[in-house]
Amino acid sequence: MQAIVMTGIGGPEVLVPREVPAPRPGAGEVLIRVEAIPVLYPETQLRSGAFPMASPPPVVFGFQAAGEVIAVGEGVGAEYLGRRVVADTAGVGAYAESVCVRAESTTPIPADVSAADAAAVAMSGSVALALLEAAALTGTETVLIEAGATGVGSYLVQLAREFGAARVIATTGGPDKARHAMELGADEVVDHRPEHWSGELKTGPDGAVDIVFDSLGGASAYALLDVMTPGSGRMLSYGWLSGEPARVSAADLIPRGLTLTGCAGPAFHARVGRARDAILDRIPTLAPPVEAILPLARAAEAHERVESRVPLGKIILRPDHTQQ
Ligand SMILES: NC(=O)c1ccc[n+]([C@@H]2O[C@H](COP(=O)([O-])OP(=O)(O)OC[C@H]3O[C@@H](n4cnc5c(N)ncnc54)[C@H](OP(=O)(O)O)[C@@H]3O)[C@@H](O)[C@H]2O)c1
Repeated sequence: MQAIVMTGIGGPEVLVPREVPAPRPGAGEVLIRVEAIPVLYPETQLRSGAFPMASPPPVVFGFQAAGEVIAVGEGVGAEYLGRRVVADTAGVGAYAESVCVRAESTTPIPADVSAADAAAVAMSGSVALALLEAAALTGTETVLIEAGATGVGSYLVQLAREFGAARVIATTGGPDKARHAMELGADEVVDHRPEHWSGELKTGPDGAVDIVFDSLGGASAYALLDVMTPGSGRMLSYGWLSGEPARVSAADLIPRGLTLTGCAGPAFHARVGRARDAILDRIPTLAPPVEAILPLARAAEAHERVESRVPLGKIILRPDHTQQ
């Protein structure tokens, strides 16, 4: 079958189209005929070596895929056969014509949703839902959503008001992303590219920021503590796009009466998994999530595009067999 093999750690050129043996489902697994593969920002970090891979290269790359279950392994019920699903791999194998995954990692795709849209929304949208649940918004609070035009941030912006935000401030890089965040529902946008961007926040007399959804980390997380509501402000830290985790210690939080919740690791990911059905059901009400659909063989180009920070929606890869 056609697949994209990660030949080493490095730039997009390490993602090489190859013919490889088709996988067969083991005990507890299902085999998916893949129709759509989302190119995820964290995958670019795995490929470049910023984060460790679950299996060392050479290996078939990829974290998530959507398609139809065409075979089941020992111990998996026949009811899975023919089901359209989106699924997580164990860290490798999704950039391919077919992939084996644990049966319990699959989520059925609603009948009115395409495989491409399900693939585009599954990870970012379910992380956003899990973050909004963890934030426990009160209905009167101001939220700050970093990198709010794309990925997880774009779903936080779309859903925050429904989950109890009174005012939504997004950060973005550049005018196109700012416009997009406003279209998605932000009340205000601040450009996060200048080093001291938090100084641009208009917090007003009683307009402090109650909740920060922090995906940038680093020094800006520390700077934000001074614009957060003393005594009740909450920072939910789930990424470090700046290259380093939030530079915040207990000594910074305690005198201000603030909390920082780390949103990663097994407990948070279990919460993300539980949000998967709910986010797929919401797809018809969300902004169109797909930027472009490219042939699987163009995976390296897809990574270049994600790393360019230009796309507003997900880049989806499609194996050739979907056109036959
Ligand atoms: N904890 C979890 O479970 C979890 C799950 C998924 C993702 N994450 C993390 O959440 C963060 C966002 O992921 P995502 O998939 O939602 O990403 P994404 O929005 O699809 O892409 C990253 C965006 O971040 C912005 N950005 C700001 N500073 C950046 C920098 N130094 N380098 C690259 N991009 C930068 C860019 O937008 P602008 O052009 O507007 O700057 C870019 O569009 C990442 O750190 C990721 O690792 C965590």
